[in-house]
Amino acid sequence: MNRIINQIQFLKYDLIEFDCVDSTMNVAKTFPSNSVVIAQSQSNGKGKSSRVWSSENNGNLYFSLILNANDDKLNYSQLSFLSGLAMREAIEKFNKSNSILLKWPNDILINEKKCCGILLEFDLLSKNLVIGIGVNIKTYPTNTMLNATALAIENINVERYNLLKEFLSNFNYFFDEWKRYGFSVIREKWIKNCYKLGKTIKVNEIEGIFKDLDKDGTLILETKNEVLYIKSGDIFI
Ligand code: BTN
Repeated sequence: MNRIINQIQFLKYDLIEFDCVDSTMNVAKTFPSNSVVIAQSQSNGKGKSSRVWSSENNGNLYFSLILNANDDKLNYSQLSFLSGLAMREAIEKFNKSNSILLKWPNDILINEKKCCGILLEFDLLSKNLVIGIGVNIKTYPTNTMLNATALAIENINVERYNLLKEFLSNFNYFFDEWKRYGFSVIREKWIKNCYKLGKTIKVNEIEGIFKDLDKDGTLILETKNEVLYIKSGDIFI
């Protein structure tokens, strides 16, 4: 329990692997920025909206990346889109034959089933941002609201460290682009693989057409009577 079993350096990141933690989100807050906390399993894996993220020791990937977030001019919540993009491209590298789509705001679907979830938390004390990502590599839970899948089921065969390294190099690249050119470049790339864009969706119980992603990542929903700008929520079909 809570034992460091591996520690390596990759690019500018210090990767620290634990056997079991309650949640990498919590442990990450005890490490400096540019650290990545990985765990083989989590006893209290956190999902969005206080949901549980199933986190057994089964070869799936659970990690949190800690970044310094003290530049007031930057909108760090956009990094959830950037992280989704970086992980989508990482997954695609290991098999290009699937439909891998980004579901607003930050899920990844393979063949319409969820394989990856992303959670962002700000640590007010350190002013660090913690980006937590879970990827079903080998197995997937069956008791979920959305249909789920695992990479192995979709013929994507990769070990978690290789996927993590691919993610981190993509993340570095997009992070530099984002700092240099702003969100527009990320938005453009994100939208190319967006799930249900232009189609009828249900967000936060409201049905309408997913018209566009605003310049800051807000979802634009056209209902029968009005156009709504939705900043947070989940898409259900
Ligand atoms: C979601 O609900 O879609 C977000 C899931 C995020 C899960 C990851 S697993 C690694 C990190 N630690 C956690 O406790 N949660 C995130």
